[in-house]
Amino acid sequence: MRYAIISDIHSNYEALAAFLDYIKTNPVDHIICCGDIIGYGASPHECIEKLRAIPNFRCIMGNHDAVAAGKIKTDGFNQEALTAMDINLTLLTPEDFGYLKSLPESISENDMLFVHGSPRSKITEYLFLMDKFKENIRLFSESVCFVGHTHHPLVYQYSMGSGEDICMNIEEEMEVFTLTPGKKYIVNVGSVGQPRDNKSDLCSVFFDTKSKTLSFKRLPYDIKSAQKKMRALQMPENLITRLAIGY
Ligand SMILES: [Fe+2]
Repeated sequence: MRYAIISDIHSNYEALAAFLDYIKTNPVDHIICCGDIIGYGASPHECIEKLRAIPNFRCIMGNHDAVAAGKIKTDGFNQEALTAMDINLTLLTPEDFGYLKSLPESISENDMLFVHGSPRSKITEYLFLMDKFKENIRLFSESVCFVGHTHHPLVYQYSMGSGEDICMNIEEEMEVFTLTPGKKYIVNVGSVGQPRDNKSDLCSVFFDTKSKTLSFKRLPYDIKSAQKKMRALQMPENLITRLAIGY
C-alpha cells in the first residue's frame, strides 16, 4: 500500500491544489491528513470541499479544526491565529462545521498511528524536544506514528533494545529512508499550507507499507495567489508574508 501523508493545510487552497496535482501523476492508495485543514489562510471552505470529494482521503482532527468544532478553546493561540480563526469561522458552511466535528482524534492501521500533536495528547502537544519524543515513543504500539502540528518535518528513530535515539531534521528531500525492524519512529510530515522550516515549498510524505520506504516531497505552489486572497480578507500581514519565507 502506498500512502501520501500530509498535515497542516491551514486553508491554503493553492498549496493543496499543487499537492493534488502531483498526486494525479503519482497515485497512492490512501491520502491521510494529520489535521489542521483550517486556520491561518483564506480558503477553509474550498479546502474542505475539495478534500471531501476525494474518495481515498481521510483526516484526523488538528487543534484549529478542534476550535472550529467547539471541542477545545483557543488557549495558546497568538493574536494572529485568533484573528485568522475568526475570519475562517465566517467562511465555513454548516456542512463544513459538521465535517470538522466528525474528524477522529487518531487513525491506526497497517502498523501506523496518525495523530496531530502526539500519541500522549493527540490534538495539542508539540513534539520539539528529545525528552518529549522519548516519553511519547512508549505510548503507542505501532511501528511508526505520523504527526504534524509543529510544521517542522523530521524523523525520530528509537532503538527498542538499546534505547538509543536520534532525531533527523529533513534538510533535503530524502528519496528513500527505509524504516528498520526493531526500531520505532515518529515522523513529522511538515506542513502543506504554512511551512516553518525556512522553505516556502509545501511539504508532503510518501510511505510504502511493503518496502517500508519513506520519502519527503517538497513542491512549489502559487504563493502569490494565496497571499492575494488573504489580503482581500484583511488577514494579519505577518501571516501573509511568512508564506513566501517559510517560517
Ligand atoms: Fe498547524
